Amino acid sequence: MPYIAVKGTRDIIGEEADAFSEVEQVFKAVAELYGYKEFRTPVLEYTEVFDRSAGDSSDVVRKEMYTFMDKGNRSVTMRPEFTAGMARSIVEKKLYATEDLPIKCFYYGPAFRYERPQLGRYRQFVQAGVECVGVDSARYDAECIVMAMHVLGVLGFENLSVKVNTLGDAESRAKYKEALKAYFSEHIDKMCPDCHDRLELNPMRILDCKVPEDQEIVKGAPKMKDYLSEASDKRFYQTLSIINDMGIKFEIDENLVRGLDYYGEIVFEVHAKSATGADYGALVGGGHYDGMLKTFGGPDYSGVGFAFGVDRIVSLMKDNGLLGKKEGKCDIYVMPLGEEVIDEAFAIAMNLRYEGYKVEIPFTGGKIGGMFKKATRKGAKFALIIGEDELNNGVAQLKNMETQEQRAISLEDLDLEIESAFNPAPEGNGCCGGESCCCGGEGGQEGCCCSQKEEKEGK
Ligand code: HAM
Repeated sequence: MPYIAVKGTRDIIGEEADAFSEVEQVFKAVAELYGYKEFRTPVLEYTEVFDRSAGDSSDVVRKEMYTFMDKGNRSVTMRPEFTAGMARSIVEKKLYATEDLPIKCFYYGPAFRYERPQLGRYRQFVQAGVECVGVDSARYDAECIVMAMHVLGVLGFENLSVKVNTLGDAESRAKYKEALKAYFSEHIDKMCPDCHDRLELNPMRILDCKVPEDQEIVKGAPKMKDYLSEASDKRFYQTLSIINDMGIKFEIDENLVRGLDYYGEIVFEVHAKSATGADYGALVGGGHYDGMLKTFGGPDYSGVGFAFGVDRIVSLMKDNGLLGKKEGKCDIYVMPLGEEVIDEAFAIAMNLRYEGYKVEIPFTGGKIGGMFKKATRKGAKFALIIGEDELNNGVAQLKNMETQEQRAISLEDLDLEIESAFNPAPEGNGCCGGESCCCGGEGGQEGCCCSQKEEKEGK
């Protein structure tokens, strides 16, 4: 058997890996702006955690979970999503009793679903999401949508399409399901085998069927708005009014039911067009849920949250030219000229790293021409050439890779020399950072390397 990545999984390297890091950083920074704290829950949960919360009628739970018996004969599942595990954790740790409400947590990491791999759909993928648990308010629902859009805005997305719907409260849903069951029962003979199951398990799932003939039948189905309680209707429009005031454009999609069973009241998804015309599906999905903590033995608190599909976001960023130009990966390429200076050059390289510079040093040595080629490929800003003669004289050669200027610098003042090479004094004040400095070595002029040296020496 060839050694290849497992079907539906992939290696993420280079520019793509940089993009994952960028999304992670932006997501975490924005989540913190909204007062969210990071939670890291295990990849493995007891299977019941998902069975009980995410639902009997959800394809994710019924067909797509990586579930197996562990060596202790316990059924465990690799998380297909984070919400259930977060709720389990909040209840297990009794955070609802010790933390201020709402509990606001964010997460980032891999999730696993045994799906048919296709564009934007993997068996291992990365989700970044939030949960806000313990206060039932349309304002928190709205804040969640605003936060998701905030993250996408910082990443540079424009022209996003936000779809919203309401699944109402439990009573509204029960009445609506009854009406749907009556309607679809009359058409079920012409519908796909999956819809036969959906009719029994949860007729609302039929609204989401992708088979074109079934979609025609769905067009004539009863609408949720006719079964919505006054309270759910009011709540939905309150949320919409808040996001509208925040400048978020949305459309109501009455067939948006979402793929997990725990939702009630508002649900939403965000889609974006790819410049290549590719359709990756929803970039983010989320909504309000009731009763999840209660399922795990906690109080009857509601929550709201969303999860980004980071793989899809990265694909779209690539297609739409939104990948940030990552800062050069190498500030200084240290070049030891010969075996005898490698240890000293390594010590110099380490000092520079401790000062915060990105430093590369080839331990294999080699010819200087080859090292310059590598320094160019790494995008190094400076080359620091260290030869035996130079070391004996307490100097090294510093070459600006862009201007090709090269000069000897004192190893004793290495950090100051490097600092002034990276931050040259503004033109015009005469500070050159070298022997012929404006201050004649006396210091005293702002930004002058000599003043910095004096400061360091405590003069
Ligand atoms: P979800 O819609 O199942 O919701 O997943 C959220 C996002 O994860 C999707 O919009 C999509 O971008 C991404 N995603 C899902 N499956 C795949 C896949 N096979 N390959 C690549 N990306 C995928 C949830 O998971 C809910 N837990 C969200 C939530 C949080 N609701 C409330 N709180």
